[in-house]
Amino acid sequence: MNNLNDQFEEFVKNLQKEIDDEESKTFSKRVIELSHNPKNWGKMENPTVEDKFLGPCGDTMQFFLKINEKDNVIEKITFITDGCGPSVASGCQLTIMAQNKSIEEALRITPDDIIKELKKLPSSHTHCPLLAVNTLNKVLKKYFESKK
Ligand code: FES
Repeated sequence: MNNLNDQFEEFVKNLQKEIDDEESKTFSKRVIELSHNPKNWGKMENPTVEDKFLGPCGDTMQFFLKINEKDNVIEKITFITDGCGPSVASGCQLTIMAQNKSIEEALRITPDDIIKELKKLPSSHTHCPLLAVNTLNKVLKKYFESKK
């Protein structure tokens, strides 16, 4: 019985290693690190503004922002997504880049800026940072509209 358990554990270990090897061939260390352990992940209590965006791939992303309304500076930003690993890494990277930036600066961040920070992203996943940028733009537009 024990032998069967050992064999199964060995099988799972080898399978995980194969998955990890495959993942590191496709994605940079940065993408793997952020997608497995994303900073700024989660909903925020009483955000100044929050909104969700549905990407063409069917995945959604949502940002929550605490804005210093006197200076128009993003003081805190968190996110969630039901998307793939690279979308988690992209959303996370965008929160890191937008934190403590003015709204104008945050609006200038492009998907290419995110890809540069993530080091390597296969072309099949370049829409993931686009989902992040489109979502943040939607949230900031909502904020501006609420100020009119
Ligand atoms: Fe949909 Fe990555 S596959 S965001």
